[in-house]
Amino acid sequence: MHSFTGLLALAASLPAFTSAVTFNLVDDYSGKTFFDNWDFYGNYDNLTNGDTTWVTKANATSKNLAEINSAGNAVLKVSTDTVVWNEKRDAVRITTQKAYPLGTIWITDVVHLPYGCSVWPAIWTLGQNTQNWPNDGEIDILEGINLNTNNQMALHTAPGCMHSTSVTQGGKSLQANCSVDAGCTVQDPDPKSYGNAFNQAGGGVWATQFTKETLVSIWFWSRANIPASVTKLASSKDAITSQDDWGTPTANYPGGSDCDLTKSFTAQKLVYDITLCGTWGGNPDFYLPQCSAQGPTTGAAACYTDNVVGNGSNYANAYFEIKYLRAYIDPSAPAVPGQNTSSSGGSSSSNSSASGSSGKAGAGVAAAPPITMAFLSSVAAIVIGAAFASLL
Ligand SMILES: *[C@@H]1O[C@H](CO)[C@@H](O)[C@H](O)[C@H]1NC(C)=O
Ligand SMILES: *[C@@H]1O[C@H](CO)[C@@H](O)[C@H](O)[C@H]1NC(C)=O
Ligand SMILES: *[C@@H]1O[C@H](CO)[C@@H](O)[C@H](O)[C@H]1NC(C)=O
Ligand SMILES: *[C@@H]1O[C@H](CO)[C@@H](O)[C@H](O)[C@H]1NC(C)=O
Ligand SMILES: *[C@@H]1O[C@H](CO)[C@@H](O)[C@H](O)[C@H]1NC(C)=O
Ligand SMILES: *[C@@H]1O[C@H](CO)[C@@H](O)[C@H](O)[C@H]1NC(C)=O
Repeated sequence: MHSFTGLLALAASLPAFTSAVTFNLVDDYSGKTFFDNWDFYGNYDNLTNGDTTWVTKANATSKNLAEINSAGNAVLKVSTDTVVWNEKRDAVRITTQKAYPLGTIWITDVVHLPYGCSVWPAIWTLGQNTQNWPNDGEIDILEGINLNTNNQMALHTAPGCMHSTSVTQGGKSLQANCSVDAGCTVQDPDPKSYGNAFNQAGGGVWATQFTKETLVSIWFWSRANIPASVTKLASSKDAITSQDDWGTPTANYPGGSDCDLTKSFTAQKLVYDITLCGTWGGNPDFYLPQCSAQGPTTGAAACYTDNVVGNGSNYANAYFEIKYLRAYIDPSAPAVPGQNTSSSGGSSSSNSSASGSSGKAGAGVAAAPPITMAFLSSVAAIVIGAAFASLL
């Protein structure tokens, strides 16, 4: 239980996010060119055992699963076609072709998130050499399953990294060990950080700072709470020169003596994906308490049988609507080999190998099924952590 003892010590001192900074806008994924410079996975979900085929770009386009809507926002959908038993349902997973070095801030404005029984969306990052997971690190910015109401953030690293229990952050640390299958998780206390309440509030903005000075910090602001400086950035090509109005990060992973996070992360690509069921969302320990009313099936097959199979009308709301993803880089950040990080605005010239496949890791849990005892015990730790936290 020692990993939860820091929860009461969250208040107090301000973090060191108030010094002068300059992060230049290098990539703006938005509007008609949003889908330029991404890799579409183009394979079934062989990472988190979800019941989805993550379609190719050609299929996503022809089936309208990735499109720009009339508001000019990017929409990523789950197919609402009929699926018969033993087939998977189409959905989308996209990965930036470009990797971003330590010295990056990503800001993404999301109007609508997928959620609901069987649905498991994530916004997350991973290293360029996907065979090397988790040694290159993973940052989970947004992740939720089924009828969860709160976002759960995490880092995944090679063994050795523990999340300090005395950090200044708005969220609740649920798991301190960054190399267990769930990663070192932090739950956002804001009920508008996921699910229907997120969408009803008009969505919100995540800013993820990845620097050698402060390592990983994630801020979430519901639409009504977006700081003025962040709103102003979105309508300009200005650099980030102040974070004075950003407040305390929701999750804060400063590394330090517990772990040299700079050695745990290489340059990161950013991913948006939606899978269905799988090792987290479809695990009956999580699925059944929230979603047993979806149908008569019990046990491990319930998520698939009572949701994925069928006419698909239950997935009409299971989409991302994204205003933008912007990447800002500290001019002193190291170059990523083979990449031009000095571009400014617009879709950048990318020079990484666009293989169309990426990611050995799943978002949130480690790869390959079958579910291991290690996974189940980390699951137990999350449940215990959540129950413990709710007593505070
Ligand atoms: C998943 O499928 C892709 C495309 O076939 C392949 O490149 C990759 O190695 C597979 N990953 C795993 C973990 O099986
Ligand atoms: C793409 O669509 C074609 C034609 O329907 C289909 O045969 C193929 O399996 C699909 N592949 C992916 C990965 O979306
Ligand atoms: C963290 O988890 C890893 C993987 O399960 C384990 O090998 C390691 O001993 C754990 N570290 C601590 C300090 O509990
Ligand atoms: C789709 O299937 C669900 C569940 O079986 C049913 O309630 C709904 O009426 C169906 N919708 C359509 C348009 O057929
Ligand atoms: C991409 O990077 C490689 C290796 O650094 C380089 O040889 C090549 O010229 C680059 N291509 C472009 C289009 O910049
Ligand atoms: C990098 O991109 C910027 C902006 O597009 C361009 O001006 C510059 O020439 C590029 N540098 C290289 C080495 O390609």
